Amino acid sequence: MGKIPYADTVQSYQLTLIDTTNASVYEEFTYLHFRSLLQNLTPDVPVLGIGVKLAGNPIGLALASYSPQVYGQILSLFVVPSHRRQGVGTALMARMETELQHRGCTEIEINYLTSSHSPALEGILTHQKWSTPKATALVCYASTDRVEQTKQPHLTQYLDRLLTNLPADYSLFPWNTLTNKERKEIVQQVETDALVRRFNPFSEEKKLEPLNSLGLRYQNQVVGWIITHRIAPDTIRYTQMFVNPKSQPLSRSTLLLARAIQLQVENLPHTKGTFRVDIDNTPMVKFVHRRLKPYLNEIRYAWSATKVVL
Ligand SMILES: CC(C)(COP(=O)(O)OP(=O)(O)OC[C@H]1O[C@@H](n2cnc3c(N)ncnc32)[C@H](O)[C@@H]1OP(=O)(O)O)[C@@H](O)C(=O)NCCC(=O)NCCS
Repeated sequence: MGKIPYADTVQSYQLTLIDTTNASVYEEFTYLHFRSLLQNLTPDVPVLGIGVKLAGNPIGLALASYSPQVYGQILSLFVVPSHRRQGVGTALMARMETELQHRGCTEIEINYLTSSHSPALEGILTHQKWSTPKATALVCYASTDRVEQTKQPHLTQYLDRLLTNLPADYSLFPWNTLTNKERKEIVQQVETDALVRRFNPFSEEKKLEPLNSLGLRYQNQVVGWIITHRIAPDTIRYTQMFVNPKSQPLSRSTLLLARAIQLQVENLPHTKGTFRVDIDNTPMVKFVHRRLKPYLNEIRYAWSATKVVL
């Protein structure tokens, strides 16, 4: 059979704005954490879904959130494998751009992780004159099995060495034993110090993982923390790792990290861990490549691209 002309193929697809009446058939085309957004697509919610159907069957979805008159963010883009490479993704992105523009957005953004699909997405971004994607972070994936099987003795030795050399005026403590006074002081720092704000330990407190969220005290002052969250029954996200660089060496934060990993390995066998490091956090990016790599199953890059749509 000869190749179907590109234009004809595209014309036979039907693109529609999704609302609560037709959202459910597109559910499996987006990430689990965006499905509630898809189910609540009412006109007063600043979220847009565009679905594609072929002969009545749903085959693709683009989802975006936006601040009216300002900014739009593509949350997900998906085309079923059997209909890829026929211009459907391109058509979805073009329509989404127009819809966001109609709602007054002047800039649109997409964030994504490196995957086997990146060339396809980047092809669309290039054609549609988006900015060249920029790496924004490393996203790392690990498992207790991998840590145990391959490097656990190294981790333990490293930790033992750090703990042995830790001066007596330092102590590690479970984060959930932070005193009210200490909490108030940190809340104040979050408000006044941009660096502490960036590593705010109090976000998503409902999901805080008590097992290995830890603080570090130096001369009775809290000078650092590692804050973890249970993001799935078998997965802990290492969300914030901070030791004030004004007063502390980097090894103090790696101590927190090593201890937190060890607690997970010892107490939660066969579970997973994940964390993200901003690309401009150079010391930590280096630490990931030099020291943590052997413990990780995978390192992926997070990318961001934008387009001005005046
Ligand atoms: C990304 C995705 C939506 C692209 O959909 P699609 O309908 O195949 O895209 P298009 O057919 O419009 O192709 C767009 C461009 O990328 C190119 N392309 C498509 N697949 C490609 C691939 N695997 N490798 C290299 N280039 C590819 C196309 O050739 C086209 O460029 P061209 O016009 O110069 O030929 C689809 O691959 C997908 O659903 N992937 C899984 C979900 C995902 O990763 N989404 C992105 C992050 S949210």
